Amino acid sequence: MRLDKFLSGALQIPRSAARSLAGSGRVTVDGQVCRKADTPVPEGAAVALDGAPLIREEHVYLMLNKPDGVVSASEDGRDTTVVDLVRDAYPRRELFPAGRLDKTSTGFVLLTDDGPFAHRLLAPRRHVPKTYRVGLDGPVTGEMVAGFAAGVTLADGQTLHPARLQPDPADPCAATVVLTQGVYHQIKRMFGVYGLGVNTLHRTAIGGVELDAALAPGQWRALTEAERQALFGPAR
Ligand code: URA
Repeated sequence: MRLDKFLSGALQIPRSAARSLAGSGRVTVDGQVCRKADTPVPEGAAVALDGAPLIREEHVYLMLNKPDGVVSASEDGRDTTVVDLVRDAYPRRELFPAGRLDKTSTGFVLLTDDGPFAHRLLAPRRHVPKTYRVGLDGPVTGEMVAGFAAGVTLADGQTLHPARLQPDPADPCAATVVLTQGVYHQIKRMFGVYGLGVNTLHRTAIGGVELDAALAPGQWRALTEAERQALFGPAR
């Protein structure tokens, strides 16, 4: 990779700014000052700016706490999107949500620019579990728990994979739901079969990774290496 491309990715600056920076003499490659923007940076080379090491991550993986009213898309002509919330920090990355939540749902959305890994995460055959906390307009019954475990048949005749429905002992109208499938409006339609409406729906975990409780709605952070590996398997 050329030095200007490396600098642009590592510092999230335009390629023209990266060219000027290279020319300034502040950048070293393996300890040697390097002023030429088209210098190839060998794999594993140590690049530094003013002596501070620069790391160019190939991809970005972010955990976002989606607020109510924001759409799970990269761009939208009308509404704020989950990518809009992080765009200032990653102006040069083509981020997208790996899996969607409804506009009124909240909680864990994973943003990345790594298409193949997102594809693996979402592949139906991998059955990555997703955990939701739901607030309902009526009480959860044993019939629902058993029905979810057996596989709910939706109004359109589609029978879903078994799902876990765990009532909240402190609130008869609240529960935790774990799905291993991603059907449009799935939880709302599942409770709809039993005549219940979903008031609130918050995704708390994807696979073994829990949404960081320190993230307020609209806040995000990068996944740790351990979280990334838990979701995607060992690095390539
Ligand atoms: N099920 C739904 O109905 N909505 C979501 O956002 C996620 C799961």
